[in-house]
Amino acid sequence: MHFEPDLLEKLRAARRIAVFTGAGVSGESGIPTFRDAQTGLWAQFRAEDLATPEAFRRDPVTVWNWYAWRRKLIREVMPNPAHLAIVQMERLIEHVTVITQNVDGLHRRAGSSDVVELHGNIFDNICSACRQPVEGIADEAGTPPTCPRCNGLVRPGVVWFGEALPEAAWIRAAEALESTDIFFCVGTSSLVEPAASLPRDARALGRTVIQINPAPTSHDQIAQYVVRGKAGEVLPALVRAAWIHAA
Ligand code: APR
Repeated sequence: MHFEPDLLEKLRAARRIAVFTGAGVSGESGIPTFRDAQTGLWAQFRAEDLATPEAFRRDPVTVWNWYAWRRKLIREVMPNPAHLAIVQMERLIEHVTVITQNVDGLHRRAGSSDVVELHGNIFDNICSACRQPVEGIADEAGTPPTCPRCNGLVRPGVVWFGEALPEAAWIRAAEALESTDIFFCVGTSSLVEPAASLPRDARALGRTVIQINPAPTSHDQIAQYVVRGKAGEVLPALVRAAWIHAA
């Protein structure tokens, strides 16, 4: 795989890197993207029927079962070479922050130490009424359990369409943008706001923006470098070319 020499130089000179990731990064682990997952049993549902507060109010059992299915699927897969290449970067430069839209926890499982989960984590639970975290829930399909404090229905601790991002995560993402030299944008269609504005903000702050995606995205014009390819192939090759072969 060939990379522009000045891209490799910028990587070697970098002290801090931020990596913004989306569903494309988990795809190679076998987790279908949100939209692709609606096959088989779930083909009859649209995202709006499964991942909105309205959907949960209307039909909590269906939404809870959809998440029980996804949790099981995620438990059975492993991080892939894209996740591992990001972990490897941590050993090569001063600091790496992962800012992810993925809720599967694979970056942490791979070993990344600074991970900002903008859309929450699928294994967390919160109460749909009092919004407090609820621990110790067995994630079985069926009727959602109830909150021990207020008796509201328990729901997954993820950000649904139309909901605000967790403020603490958003602040940490903004801080990472302030201090980073390089901003990678990997495996995201960059369509879902407000997370999708991060690459724009990074560029406005003068960061080097590198886009990695097999398909064109609306953010290709924002990036100084666009690498077409799969994250699990491009990221390991980039780590080798920038740091390992250069050593
Ligand atoms: N490597 C890199 N990118 C890939 C790969 C791969 N192997 N395979 C697919 N892609 C790219 C696709 O080309 C697409 O641009 O990953 C992107 C996936 O886009 P989306 O499915 O829209 O995922 P994402 O951008 O993470 O969506 C954001 O929307 O579904 C909601 O809340 C959910 O967090 C999610 C948000």
